[in-house]
Amino acid sequence: MKFFVDTADVKEIRELNELGLVDGVTTNPSLILKSGGNIADVTKEICSIVEGPVSAEVVATEYAQMMKEAEVLAAIADNVCIKVPLTLDGLRACKTIRTEMERMVNVTLCFSANQALLAAKAGASFISPFVGRLDDTGLDGMELISEIRQIYDNFDFDTEILVASVRTVNHIKEAALIGADVITAPPAALRALVKHPLTDKGLEAFLADWAKTGQKIG
Ligand code: E4P
Repeated sequence: MKFFVDTADVKEIRELNELGLVDGVTTNPSLILKSGGNIADVTKEICSIVEGPVSAEVVATEYAQMMKEAEVLAAIADNVCIKVPLTLDGLRACKTIRTEMERMVNVTLCFSANQALLAAKAGASFISPFVGRLDDTGLDGMELISEIRQIYDNFDFDTEILVASVRTVNHIKEAALIGADVITAPPAALRALVKHPLTDKGLEAFLADWAKTGQKIG
């Protein structure tokens, strides 16, 4: 299972990358706003840190303009993955970017299994179902991941399920149990994966006993 980090914060990306926790990055217009930087500069810097796919999102809503923006974003670096919204124009752009530009495409803002089916048929490299935002409405985001997994397996679609809008460590665990290909999570959720009170307590006890031995290693 691949770990993408869902942020445009270069410092966070650098730190998590050094920990070996970053297989890719996802950004969106809101995350670019939060970074305070220019999309081209920020994306270029992220691409110089991370070898894997770095999703950069088009903001046009019509096909022709989406394609123009896709060309601009693709020119930033070879590992830029073009992110398009799950609309008819977005799906059309997905197909063209995959077949003519031969670029990775991440189809975003997926909230139903039928939308995920359309993205796979358009040749998407990644489909991004937003589990947290579904949970917010009282629905079960992880149920959607199970449905998409089943549909993609039924027809051997190559599109990777990229679980997005992750809020908790349980989202990550459930995505792994279901067999999602990728999760994209905010830095805090990735860091929280390591936490367990028994690990802290156990380490404290070992270190206390070690101090009593008066020994040193090395
Ligand atoms: C995914 O690519 C999106 O950037 C992201 O996961 C959205 O998460 P949010 O619902 O926390 O904004």
